[in-house]
Amino acid sequence: MHRKDFIKATALTAAYTAILPSANIFSNIAQKNIRVALIGVGLRGQNHLDLLLRRSDVDVTAICDIDDRMLATSKKLINKSGKKMPAVYTGDPNIWKNMLEKEKPDAVIISTPWEWHTPMILGSLERGIKYIGTEVVLGITLDDHWNVVKEAEKHKAHVMMLENVCYRRDVMAVLNMVRQGLFGELVHLQGGYQHDLREVKFNDGKQPYGGGVEFGEKGFSEARWRTNHSVHRNGDLYPTHGIGPLAHYININRGNRFTAISSFASKARGLHDYIVKKAGKDHPNAKVNFKLGDVVTTSIQCANGETILLQHDTNLPRPYSLGFRVQGTKGLWMDVAKGIYIEDLSSKPHQWDEAKIWLEKYDHPLWARWSRQTEGAGHGGMDFFVIHAFVESVKRRTVTPMDVYDAAAWSAITPLSERSIEQGSQVLEFPDFTSGKWQNRKPVFALSDDY
Ligand SMILES: NC(=O)c1ccc[n+]([C@@H]2O[C@H](COP(=O)([O-])OP(=O)(O)OC[C@H]3O[C@@H](n4cnc5c(N)ncnc54)[C@H](O)[C@@H]3O)[C@@H](O)[C@H]2O)c1
Repeated sequence: MHRKDFIKATALTAAYTAILPSANIFSNIAQKNIRVALIGVGLRGQNHLDLLLRRSDVDVTAICDIDDRMLATSKKLINKSGKKMPAVYTGDPNIWKNMLEKEKPDAVIISTPWEWHTPMILGSLERGIKYIGTEVVLGITLDDHWNVVKEAEKHKAHVMMLENVCYRRDVMAVLNMVRQGLFGELVHLQGGYQHDLREVKFNDGKQPYGGGVEFGEKGFSEARWRTNHSVHRNGDLYPTHGIGPLAHYININRGNRFTAISSFASKARGLHDYIVKKAGKDHPNAKVNFKLGDVVTTSIQCANGETILLQHDTNLPRPYSLGFRVQGTKGLWMDVAKGIYIEDLSSKPHQWDEAKIWLEKYDHPLWARWSRQTEGAGHGGMDFFVIHAFVESVKRRTVTPMDVYDAAAWSAITPLSERSIEQGSQVLEFPDFTSGKWQNRKPVFALSDDY
């Protein structure tokens, strides 16, 4: 197909289902700046801090961390911004409770190690905070996920997991294409977290990435806590970057849901080999037995008949890729192939079109409107959108575009995959965190160019 015909055909489709421009809901917007407190200002928390400091509608009123070095770099960021220094809470792993009681923020953002997320969310709910933004993932055990859902319901509060990949530009353009029916009815989806984290899991205790093979007490940043999960757990430990975007494509918890799951884990070789390669076989860490399989593969069945394949692959040498594949009755997108194929519209049968042409054509209205503001924001700009969406929801006192049911369903893949692997890759029933509400809930994510 010639480019001219392609543009004509796609413009026609676009005309049917254009995404709504800004709805007139500004009357609900809070007049005063919203007051935000941050728990955890490590490397990720500092990204969020930076984005919040750039906004004129937010006051960062308090920050909390137990690491002096992380606090020092955070204070530098604040000074550089010219904004008022927030109250700083430190010195005790539970001091965040005092912060919430004293500061009473409108919203809290949690960017601490995974094991702290559930206690900090529950503690925030108990203290009356109505908007909680938490980094991925929601919790560790299946009970954690149920507890957060039940408590959020009880307190009528909003818990949004700050899943930024949902806002990646290509991911959103594909969402736009999915909603306009370009791929037909979706049938099969793939994604995952395929990222060589060896230099994140090990460092020299001084720098965040590499330079040594230390972890735990001797490591810095994620090496201090994340690596221990690879020692003791075997499952898809980081499912949300892959599953979040896929869940939006097929309206999970909003007319659809995950119904069954099973996982396989490969042998574990990568982390041990890395230690031996970098520090020799006599280094004490060469004796550590890592439980996490190098490649964990998870299959999920959905109520509306789609299948999903997720892969967690963080211990072996490989270039980064989330491995998205979105396939329907009329065509598919594969991010690794950088290709899109749409039957009857692509240039030639059985041949990939360059994805770029389609992705630019179907750029999501959010990106079209806000891309200037994304300059300098982390992860190619997508981090801007996740904070923007959270802040705008707080200002409008409305639901967040990703809610506690999404957070629970996406994060629960971890404990379910661990259980499945423990039981010989048993197929397990997927819990319905919405308790039946999924049947009538409607999509709310990225429906306009507002947030
Ligand atoms: N969405 C993304 O792209 C992305 C990227 C990186 C990290 N993350 C997530 O962000 C979270 C934090 O990761 P990170 O890279 O910033 O790790 P990090 O180790 O750099 O930061 C964690 C911070 O939490 C602090 N902390 C630990 N216990 C605390 C407590 N009891 N009270 C107060 N502070 C405490 C630590 O001192 C540290 O400064 C994790 O959930 C991680 O998975 C997400």
